[in-house]
Amino acid sequence: MRKEEIQNLIAQMTLEEKAGMCSGANFWQLKSVERLGIPSVKVTDGPHGLRAQDEQADHLGINKSIKAVCFPTGCALASSFDRKLLKKVGTAIGQECQAEDISVILGPAMNIKRSPLCGRNFEYYSEDPLVTSEMAAALTEGVQSQNVGVSMKHFLANNQEKRRMTNSSKVDERTLREIYLAAFEEAVKQAKPWTVMNSYNRINGTYVGESKEYLTDILRDEWGFDGYVMSDWGAVNDRVEALKAGMDLEMPASGGINDALIVKAVQDGSLDEKIVDQACERILNIIFRFTENRKQGVAFEYQKDHELAAEAEAECIVLLKNEDEILPLAPDKKVAFIGKYAETPRYQGGGSSHINSWKVESALEAIKNIAEVTYAKGFDDDVDEINEELQNEAVCIAKEAEIAVIFAGLPDSFESEGYDRKHLDLPTYQNILIEKICKVQKNTIVVLHNGSPVTMPWKDQVKGIVEAYLGGQAVGRSVVNVLYGNVNPSGRLAETFPLQLEDTPCYLTYGKGVDEAVYSEGVFVGYRYYTSKKQEVLFPFGYGLSYTTFAYSNLKLDRIQMTDEEILKVSVDVENTGSCAGKEVIQIYVAPGETEIARPIKELKAFDKIELMPGEKKTVAFELDARAFAYWNTEIHDWYVESGSYEIQVGKNAEAILIKSVIQMEGTKKIKKEFNLNTCIGELMQDEKGKAVFSQMMGGNQQAAKMAEANQDKEVITDKMMAAMLNDMPLRQLVSFVPGMTREALEQILAAVNE
Ligand code: BGC
Repeated sequence: MRKEEIQNLIAQMTLEEKAGMCSGANFWQLKSVERLGIPSVKVTDGPHGLRAQDEQADHLGINKSIKAVCFPTGCALASSFDRKLLKKVGTAIGQECQAEDISVILGPAMNIKRSPLCGRNFEYYSEDPLVTSEMAAALTEGVQSQNVGVSMKHFLANNQEKRRMTNSSKVDERTLREIYLAAFEEAVKQAKPWTVMNSYNRINGTYVGESKEYLTDILRDEWGFDGYVMSDWGAVNDRVEALKAGMDLEMPASGGINDALIVKAVQDGSLDEKIVDQACERILNIIFRFTENRKQGVAFEYQKDHELAAEAEAECIVLLKNEDEILPLAPDKKVAFIGKYAETPRYQGGGSSHINSWKVESALEAIKNIAEVTYAKGFDDDVDEINEELQNEAVCIAKEAEIAVIFAGLPDSFESEGYDRKHLDLPTYQNILIEKICKVQKNTIVVLHNGSPVTMPWKDQVKGIVEAYLGGQAVGRSVVNVLYGNVNPSGRLAETFPLQLEDTPCYLTYGKGVDEAVYSEGVFVGYRYYTSKKQEVLFPFGYGLSYTTFAYSNLKLDRIQMTDEEILKVSVDVENTGSCAGKEVIQIYVAPGETEIARPIKELKAFDKIELMPGEKKTVAFELDARAFAYWNTEIHDWYVESGSYEIQVGKNAEAILIKSVIQMEGTKKIKKEFNLNTCIGELMQDEKGKAVFSQMMGGNQQAAKMAEANQDKEVITDKMMAAMLNDMPLRQLVSFVPGMTREALEQILAAVNE
């Protein structure tokens, strides 16, 4: 429907109808206005499949939803580092939505993994904003290609479950821009989501839902978002303020209470009716975009999507350890599968994303087509204690086999929407089982089913570690395919696995505030922290092994110096030097040289995944623009590129840089500085005009000027300490040190420099 037609409809609506349009009809539906032909449309969770409820509705995953296909969760999908794959999964979800008459799916979930403790990390993609944004954009493009909208959530800085509905994230401007906003920015610009969901929390005291700065100034005016913003379920504090700030739709229904407040505010003049009209226009625009282009006759193809879930998960699995090339397994080896999750895998998390899976394919079921194995359950995960009988049986069959594969992981109770984890450990009964098995079986492999990092006290005792994450309903098949080499693993960690909780960047503050989360680590999130601090980790960001090997060579930059108005073209040759086909994730990090401010030692600025046959070599090309070199400057409230040298690093992961080159950068943006009596001499002398005026005015006192100048040129003057003192001395202090100097004279200098 054209803009004018929608505006015409709005002109015919009563104020009550318009206010009503700004909240849901019930849990999952928007309101209709029958007399005007406005239909009611449905939205549904999200994000890795459909949680569409027919009858009893809730937002916590309590009541049953329709049978659907559970794709790998966000933590797994991100490990694929594969945009095409995400688009394919998104397309399938979009088709399912068409089949079920759903206008918007509530996802992708894009919050940054600030701490591995966040209970909802399994739904999220990464600790890195680039990976998050790229994965979300690809999924969005897929869903929306089917004329179904996404809802990018949860906007913004919603990184813990503790007090998620009232907590205030205390976070500075630069950190927000570089990490938390950046996770959404490119995805919004590139993929143009139909809707965005604002989060429950506050930021620096203000509810996100009431923040014009985030919902309108940044999201719409800066990034060009043109859909509607909906609240997370119940994320409305003051409905009228929220509407003014840019929260168009309240979900779910407020029982008419908040609609009435909108009406009242318009009537008493505290709310401009145009704001209500504008929200209606945005909502109607999306409603009609969906209904007028319905795809007819689309069916939910369960088997087909199950196959895709298996294919997708196979791309996500990360091989963490493969000592003595224990993997892949030969089908004629005597293998014992051990652990409950071989039979009933943990493949999704609890809460609003919980899917009523149409079918679940376990490893035990999948192995039937490939090899014969023995099986022992080993543990029960409903109570947190050792089951001696199960444990003994498992040790026995491990001893009799040539290889033991233990299917371990986090039970549902250890991670979920609604609460955060307390520690990073697997249940003790599982760690003990693994250790007992290692004592009788030197060829032990652990397969992990978990939504975020765990500690691995047995890492050195096992020969293989396979990270399956929460891999969706077909996880068993994908795992078996990786174990037996039908699939060459190509997942890479989209988050760091720390050695212990105490090493994590926000350990001291995470989950500690009563109703406030202090983001004390600033921009040093994930690998930005570990690499800058040279903190040893269990497995670094970007890490993952393959059954083949890759060699990197011939890193080329198309220039050796550039300005921030130019684009740097980077290319590198990658060759498969092993004996089987495989996929590699090429990671480009940018590492600033000397910087004026604290910056991460390196940041991922581009990546690509390619497939290579044995012996095949490909040139992989990237482009880096100003943003790849910039930081958010809080003086100018904008991105800013410092002049200087930057390393372009090509890595296998954040810690394994294989090849690098240097570019000299000239930043063209000038920051106009205001100097005052507390400006230090060194700082003044770094400014061309400052230096000239100061030297001239100080002409009467040759010595001070000389010393300052010498210091500015970074030459060693006779007394190094004196130079340092002068450098860091505020101008006001010259009155005491320079004979005849007055405050008036200094003010004259300042006036001339600031002019
Ligand atoms: C969750 C959202 C979800 C919504 C609807 C909320 O509790 O935070 O992610 O989409 O419920 O179920």
